[in-house]
Amino acid sequence: MIQVRNLSFTYPKGVEVLKDISFSIQKGKSCAIIGPSGCGKTTLLYLIAGLLPVQKGIIQVNGTANTRGNIPMILQDYGLFPWKTVWENVAMGLTLKHLPHEEIERKLEPILEELGLSTFRTFYPSQLSGGQRQRVAIARVLAMNPSLILMDEPFSSLDAMTREHLQILLSRIWKVHHITFIIVTHSIEEATFLGEKVLVLSEQPAHIRAVVENESAGDPSFRSSKEFFKISTKLRRLLFSMNLDS
Ligand SMILES: Nc1ncnc2c1ncn2[C@@H]1O[C@H](COP(=O)(O)OP(=O)(O)O)[C@@H](O)[C@H]1O
Ligand SMILES: [Mg+2]
Repeated sequence: MIQVRNLSFTYPKGVEVLKDISFSIQKGKSCAIIGPSGCGKTTLLYLIAGLLPVQKGIIQVNGTANTRGNIPMILQDYGLFPWKTVWENVAMGLTLKHLPHEEIERKLEPILEELGLSTFRTFYPSQLSGGQRQRVAIARVLAMNPSLILMDEPFSSLDAMTREHLQILLSRIWKVHHITFIIVTHSIEEATFLGEKVLVLSEQPAHIRAVVENESAGDPSFRSSKEFFKISTKLRRLLFSMNLDS
């Protein structure tokens, strides 16, 4: 579904940010990307989304190299329109497609329900908590029925409990809807919980230091298992360049 091969990237007049990155993600699987701040994670997502031009290497999404910037991306700051209600924010993509109101209503109903937003449909973003706002942002993307969602540190500004709730919600969505997810995070535990594959990036210029396979990701009971602790410890050691045998 997603193929990245020998991808390198340098900003104009800048230094090299990504160096020879290769990985693939199968359809319906989740991938977490973790690495030091400023190493190039956001740049990598923008390249996959088609928001930055590929200079060297290949990115293919569903067999095509041109994603034209139409892959939905969820960011840390929600990206909601403050003057639109929850319903209007979630409906936005469909409204832009000029679908009849009844059809939009029919599509949105189960999504608002699934994300626990039904009672907030007439609220404005300023009347919602951070967690609720991020649920609106997720609902808006789901309404477009995407096969791939990119997320850039989506839960960073949320408190620990809300964050955990949203991680569980997200894992359910990806399993039920068979959506492919790429989530950039700086939380080791979030990467362990959400990434069936975890890419550990090095400092800038980022190359892949390790790919950790993590089959149990997304299972609600995984968090309290020995395996969870083992994978998190492994990621921590990789990030801090510690010897795995020590
Ligand atoms: N538009 C830009 N022009 C030049 N350099 C940039 C631009 N955006 C990001 N960078 C640089 O590229 C590097 C990687 O940035 P970024 O991908 O945002 O890192 P991360 O998301 O891992 O924190 C940083 O050194 C940053 O300063
Ligand atoms: Mg970033």
